[in-house]
Amino acid sequence: MKLSLSSSSSSSFFLLLLLLALSVLTEASNRKDEERASTPPRGWNSYDSFCWTVSEEEFLHNAEIISEKLHAQKYEYVVVDYLWYRKKVPGAYVDSLGFDVIDEWGRMIPDPVRWPSSRGGKGFTEVAKKVHSMGLKFGIHVMRGISTQAVNAKTPILDTITGGAYEESGRVWYAQDIGLKEKACAWMRNGFMSVNTDLGAGKAFLRSLYQQYASWGVDFIKNDCVFGDDLNVNEITYVSEVLKELDRPILYSLSPGTSVTPDMAKAVSGSTNLYRITGDDWDSWGDVAAHFDVARDFAAAKMIGSSGLLGRSWPDLDMLPLGYLTDPGSNEGPHRRCRLNLKEQRTQMTLWSMAKSPLMFGGDLRNIDDTTFSLITNPILLEINSYSSNNAEFPYIRKSSSPRGRKLGRSRMYPTSMEESEVEVLGLTSCKDPKASRWLVEEPDQSLERICWKENMEGRYGEPFCLYKRNSLVKSDEEIMYGSQYQGALHLLASEKANYCLNASPRRKITSSEFTRGSFSRCTWNANQMWEFHSNGTLISSYSGLCAIMKKVKANVGAAGARSWIATGRSGEIYLAFFNLNSDSMVIATEVSDLAKVLPGRSITSCVGKEIWSGTGLGRLKNGTIATKVGSHDCALYVLNCN
Ligand SMILES: *[C@@H]1O[C@H](CO)[C@@H](O)[C@H](O)[C@H]1NC(C)=O
Ligand SMILES: *[C@@H]1O[C@H](CO)[C@@H](O)[C@H](O)[C@H]1NC(C)=O
Repeated sequence: MKLSLSSSSSSSFFLLLLLLALSVLTEASNRKDEERASTPPRGWNSYDSFCWTVSEEEFLHNAEIISEKLHAQKYEYVVVDYLWYRKKVPGAYVDSLGFDVIDEWGRMIPDPVRWPSSRGGKGFTEVAKKVHSMGLKFGIHVMRGISTQAVNAKTPILDTITGGAYEESGRVWYAQDIGLKEKACAWMRNGFMSVNTDLGAGKAFLRSLYQQYASWGVDFIKNDCVFGDDLNVNEITYVSEVLKELDRPILYSLSPGTSVTPDMAKAVSGSTNLYRITGDDWDSWGDVAAHFDVARDFAAAKMIGSSGLLGRSWPDLDMLPLGYLTDPGSNEGPHRRCRLNLKEQRTQMTLWSMAKSPLMFGGDLRNIDDTTFSLITNPILLEINSYSSNNAEFPYIRKSSSPRGRKLGRSRMYPTSMEESEVEVLGLTSCKDPKASRWLVEEPDQSLERICWKENMEGRYGEPFCLYKRNSLVKSDEEIMYGSQYQGALHLLASEKANYCLNASPRRKITSSEFTRGSFSRCTWNANQMWEFHSNGTLISSYSGLCAIMKKVKANVGAAGARSWIATGRSGEIYLAFFNLNSDSMVIATEVSDLAKVLPGRSITSCVGKEIWSGTGLGRLKNGTIATKVGSHDCALYVLNCN
């Protein structure tokens, strides 16, 4: 078509078209280059309300409600949690084997009964399309490596470049060539195992998975059983490389978060966008309270919003189990209300916001109540969660059980650790952590060698914690088979006699009430039970490459007392939260002049503001005290304008 300059109306029409086309183009290229996860991602995940049983209809119905009621508040990613490929039939459960739908290349595909639109090889394409048409983004959960079912089925590996079976050194490679059986996922032993990323075929398999997810239209991947106690740096690093090369911007999320320390996270945070830093969070007060220490440690280590995969990365405190829920590990959908009371829910949302955790709502939206809705859409909390900075635990508080109005003494500054009893547990940390090199070999007599934790050799905490090297004279078949692989590695026994070996990965999540000094189970030749002792005093797990430490934890996190967090807002306002983790109410207080101590470059002599839950104003506080009575498990949140 010829553009006639004489006709001003048609030329402006074409100009408009041109501009439109240009703006579409720049938008598309911006989208690709845009910093990923520039603020903590927000959305919904199916696990807390459906465990693994969610169907296409239930999922899309929840997505629709998000798009209508929560998208305006930036709840954007809707994520299908684990086992979307498992047939929901009698006998199938969380760690069952042989109920999964896999393709000819050993890749998981959605169960066509629960996900009817996946029929005909379409995978999640249709679901992703519908989610996108709602203006939302689509996410899926995947496990580490390869499924045991694919290894047992001896499926060939797809070469995505040729479209045929992967060949190298003149032969076709199969699932059993890359699967590391002795590195089965510690919390789902029958389901999945690591793949050997040193092999071209191992890399080809991972590539074939993530390229397929991208072709389905996936925008978010939660990779489970690769972090925390199940750390698998090789897989995380390689998957991250694959994601970087794709045309589709996919956010990369890691799980689980058991035993995660800032040192451990630093090894992978640059390759991801969010990573869990705690075990699964459910709706119990102990779970909420257990997040305070770890959130503080990551804030202090400057990990909040540090650089990540083509953007930023965020320590993730886990989904919000609020509203209408199911139970962990169950085979059924939502059937009960959240067990946290309103104060506890408020405390959870306030901590998650002050720590800038991703906010992934877990309740069934078809049955959301007004209270839950207004809590998860609270504009001040969401503003803090997305845009605040300088987020940190604020140490300059004091507490008093005296009623309001009475003069508060300055004598009892936080931390009030005297009130807490401590117990020792075995944990894991990065091997670079100097705290990890405190193991010592002892030989009480010729026939016995044990490895003890140095710290408690003097018996300060009763018996020193010692592990016994196994002295097996008879070699089992297994031992012969794996012996060369684990040369120099040891089984560590709980006692000289019993055949119980130390596990690198606790089977259960660690919460406030269930501490033990170590986790032992019957000895087998499994990477999870193999340890290497290094001359620098570290004890390295063959499963995760993490090192064992003994750490002291508070026996009852719920009694840890008063906590406070601080952050600054976009317009210079100060957010100050007081939390009461005790079961009695208490007065928590700070001085206005103390606020500047943690805010670089600010001097503060006077503030105005209000507490948001009560709506109570402060008046103008000149060198004054901010003090309020905080109920059991409750919090107060101040928005302050100070100068
Ligand atoms: C101890 O030695 C191991 C193996 O050489 C090394 O990876 C680790 O970083 C060392 N750790 C410390 C704390 O010295
Ligand atoms: C306010 O507190 C600061 C720091 O403690 C102090 O230097 C200053 O003199 C105080 N001002 C008044 C008016 O009390």
